[in-house]
Amino acid sequence: MHHPVLYQEIIHALRPRRDGLYVDATLGAGGHAWGLLQASGPNGRLLGLDVDPQALELARQRLEPFGERAILVRASYITLTGQLAALGWKAVDGILLDLGLSSMQVDTPERGFSFLADAPLDMRFDPEGLVSSADLVNNLPESELADLIYRYGEEKRSRQVARAIAAARPLKTTLQLAQVVTRAVTSGKSGTKRRSIHPATRTFQALRIAVNRELESVEAVLPQAVAALASGGRLAVIAFHSLEDRIVKQFFRRESQDCICPPQQPVCTCGHRATIREVIRHPINPRPEEIEANPRARSARLRVAEKLE
Ligand SMILES: C[S@@+](CC[C@H](N)C(=O)[O-])C[C@H]1O[C@@H](n2cnc3c(N)ncnc32)[C@H](O)[C@@H]1O
Repeated sequence: MHHPVLYQEIIHALRPRRDGLYVDATLGAGGHAWGLLQASGPNGRLLGLDVDPQALELARQRLEPFGERAILVRASYITLTGQLAALGWKAVDGILLDLGLSSMQVDTPERGFSFLADAPLDMRFDPEGLVSSADLVNNLPESELADLIYRYGEEKRSRQVARAIAAARPLKTTLQLAQVVTRAVTSGKSGTKRRSIHPATRTFQALRIAVNRELESVEAVLPQAVAALASGGRLAVIAFHSLEDRIVKQFFRRESQDCICPPQQPVCTCGHRATIREVIRHPINPRPEEIEANPRARSARLRVAEKLE
């Protein structure tokens, strides 16, 4: 079995026990879920969520041997509280969020995530999602497109990219978009300083984040996840880019403090109480052996928090 990113580290962090309740909120192909079910046998149970029916089907096949111990639901993790209530699970022992897109999604050209294969512009994790990358690329006003590419892609040439896209509309396919973006990003450059990533990487990342409302979703799920944990239960989050990781980091810092008043304020007025402790102060990165075996793992960062009494 191909192990997913930071597999051993996740099992170690969530410490599955034999009758525990676990949530894999980003099920994907079910690799982490498999490990959690295996390690929490014979009675541990797992709720797996994903918005992508293809991912759910793969996970369903992989997790079949665990029978009713695996409950798989097609739903966004932003509905976590409601999903747990529907099962009557009052508190769970561990929750995993392995953010972003799966290898299966990026390797399926017709999903439109890759700029290396020609396919319709799409990028929806949920194929029934209301907005695709084609909608954003072809309909957003140029200035909004530029802001989006700057904010979510951290692309310094966002204005040039948006201008080039607006001039080339309508764009239909990934390769058309990648060509337009590449020209905008590399125009006027001497070519002596080579980019370490494909010139379209940042724009594609930005569109994917916007299409799937990724940052808003992470912000919405983190408080629900902490509220759902039993005391001593753990939340593990794998982020793949700094925008996501920053949200997780700031949330963990805030929720692990008793007071969140501004530092210059002499007396606490916020009444905030810590709900978690950070199990590790600094994020865990994949080991060099893992990156060598799976280069896509290289930007993964794992943070782990534990619910307080
Ligand atoms: C990196 S993959 C997870 C891989 C998985 N850990 C494994 O072992 O195979 C992320 C998955 O999260 C799913 N996803 C993204 N946003 C989601 C959301 N809001 N709710 C539920 N699943 C989501 C994607 O469809 C994708 O399948």
